[in-house]
Amino acid sequence: MSDFDPMEAMKKEFESYIIPPSWKDRVWEINEYRKFHEETVKDKKSIEEWWERWANELPWFKKWEKVLDDSNPPFYRWFVGGETNLAYLCTDWQLEQGRKNKVAIIWEGEPVDENNEPKEVRKLTYYDLYRESNRIAYMLREKLGVKKGEILTFYLPMIPELPLYMLAVQRLGAKHSIVFSGFSAEALAIRIIDAGARIVVTADGLYRRGKVLNLKAIVDEAIKICEREGHKVEKVIVVKRIGTDIPWNSERDVWHHELMSDIPKNVKVECERLGSEDFSFILYTSGTTGKPKGVQHSVGGYAVHVYTTMKLIFDIKDEDIFWCTADVGWITGHSYVVYGPLMTGATTLMYEGAPDYPDVDRWASIIERYGVTIFYTAPTAIRMLMRFPEEKYTKHDLSTLRIINSVGEPINPEAWRWYYKVFGRENVVCTSTWWMTETGGIITGHSPGFGKIYPLKPGTNGFPLPGIKMEVFDDEGNPVKPGERGYLVISTPWPGMLMTLFKDPERYIQVYFEKYRKRGWHFYTGDFAMIDHDGYVWVLGRADDVLKIAGHRIGTAEIESAIIKHPAVAEAACVGKSDPIKGEIAIIYVVLKKGYEPSEEMVAELKKHLRATIGPVVASDALIAFVEVLPKTRSGKIMRRLLRAVAEGKPLGDVTTLESEVAVEEAKKAYEIVKRALERT
Ligand code: WT7
Repeated sequence: MSDFDPMEAMKKEFESYIIPPSWKDRVWEINEYRKFHEETVKDKKSIEEWWERWANELPWFKKWEKVLDDSNPPFYRWFVGGETNLAYLCTDWQLEQGRKNKVAIIWEGEPVDENNEPKEVRKLTYYDLYRESNRIAYMLREKLGVKKGEILTFYLPMIPELPLYMLAVQRLGAKHSIVFSGFSAEALAIRIIDAGARIVVTADGLYRRGKVLNLKAIVDEAIKICEREGHKVEKVIVVKRIGTDIPWNSERDVWHHELMSDIPKNVKVECERLGSEDFSFILYTSGTTGKPKGVQHSVGGYAVHVYTTMKLIFDIKDEDIFWCTADVGWITGHSYVVYGPLMTGATTLMYEGAPDYPDVDRWASIIERYGVTIFYTAPTAIRMLMRFPEEKYTKHDLSTLRIINSVGEPINPEAWRWYYKVFGRENVVCTSTWWMTETGGIITGHSPGFGKIYPLKPGTNGFPLPGIKMEVFDDEGNPVKPGERGYLVISTPWPGMLMTLFKDPERYIQVYFEKYRKRGWHFYTGDFAMIDHDGYVWVLGRADDVLKIAGHRIGTAEIESAIIKHPAVAEAACVGKSDPIKGEIAIIYVVLKKGYEPSEEMVAELKKHLRATIGPVVASDALIAFVEVLPKTRSGKIMRRLLRAVAEGKPLGDVTTLESEVAVEEAKKAYEIVKRALERT
């Protein structure tokens, strides 16, 4: 089955120790590092000491009384009694440290001129950030009455206004819920309603691969859905990015620049003193049911975690140009485009558009143009770039790069080697950092910030951070042997961990802690993994019904509940199929209602529907296969493993272990039917 495949490739690399030449005098003997790591997770006191050391590097309005309150697990609270504010850390504190005129954000728009040079570049200093976010905070408070505790929804492209609004909201002690601009109107509406947002911030549109996408029209559509559901959005703030004509509701819609036109340049809004264990934002992510989960992050713990990883994993220094290619709409963008780099006073790069526009060397040209030193991207992108000759990239000067990491899904050793060679000239720290929306920040990876590294291995996730203990369990919660596959758990609390699921503490316990409850409080990640004989973690992929399509996380249940809304669809089942570039794509088996016939037009129609209900990420590569009935067990459960086996072109194998309570003959028949359906797509 698909989830077994990466294992063999990775096992071959268990002893491929690679030391970048520039690090040869700064190597940590693995067992020595391992011992050091073990010391930091020995007991509660060691964990607290480890994190306290980092918390002490940050300024606090008020110092904490307790590092970790674990009296009510799994609702852990960090730096209890402490007070700080993310906006304070990202702007005010940077000015205090003398970074007033340092460039905080370099932004490059997608459109290019006839020489392929970017038409628009904006550079914002820390002072610009400070001033503009103060002005926006003032406007939100004075004109729209935004108060501490309120949640605002942002549906914005990759433009500097997004971080500015994030910082403005943090100043006020309000919270943001950012929805990735690739999500559909329906997905946006669900998130607006769940957060109870009365203000939505968006833009008139965005550029993607030379085309304009009208974001505002999607927001209008979403608001109609909100209204149908009885939720009122009072104001839509629109940032002018494109300048095209857009639909307008003059009672509700208001231009950002008009709201700002009479706000003085120098207004100040005091940063709200937030409790460390107050929450800073929510971010929706997919799980195994149709309803997205509102992952709720703290203020102090989140700040300490993200700060620590900037120092250790990215070894951030004042002269670095830091580029994380993720969209700010994902957690990676929250933590490593905005909060992490700004909190550490770095220069962070934001690029608006597609990696292959106008050509596949766009990213390489950006690295060269600004002398990027630290680069962070997704395996999907690397595999896409790999299809083209190396010279496309090496003709650009990439010699400034010193750390290049990946995130989002497993990186196959082959892609790692290519990335290390072509972008890294075989002389950088290159690691696959494992983490999740729920973890707030990076959990595993190499830590050059210590001044020395343990050897790289192609495809590995390296060690967990000090202070964090990870284990690989079997179904019963027994640790498996080194090199064996099992379920990845995090066995100790860590500061960046989610506080709860928004408005749903029961689900928080159930999703993340129920599985191994009889063994204690182990955070269940939902991933398959191995730990090798050296203690390195190797994540193999999801173990549940969650897909990673081009690094984007989406539950099959969400796709199913979206497609079922189409009037022609009676029933549907979705499974993943591995894809050489995207990692995974969705296969959707569809049973049509009476009166509808399978046809190419129907496929096109359903894809259009998917685009509108879930968004383009899933829709563009989804395969739709029509079946008369879905194969089910006697108790009515869809035979997902069978569907997956067919999708991967794998033989049916041992039916009894494949699906319980299914007769062999029955399964064989179902297998053949599904296989034929798939062949027809
Ligand atoms: C899932 C979390 C926060 C990072 C962006 C994705 C997979 C993430 C890796 C990696 C193997 C990885 C896991 C995880 N994943 N990073 N380096 N190696 N798998 O965040 O959308 O919350 O998804 O992404 O399956 O559970 P996310």
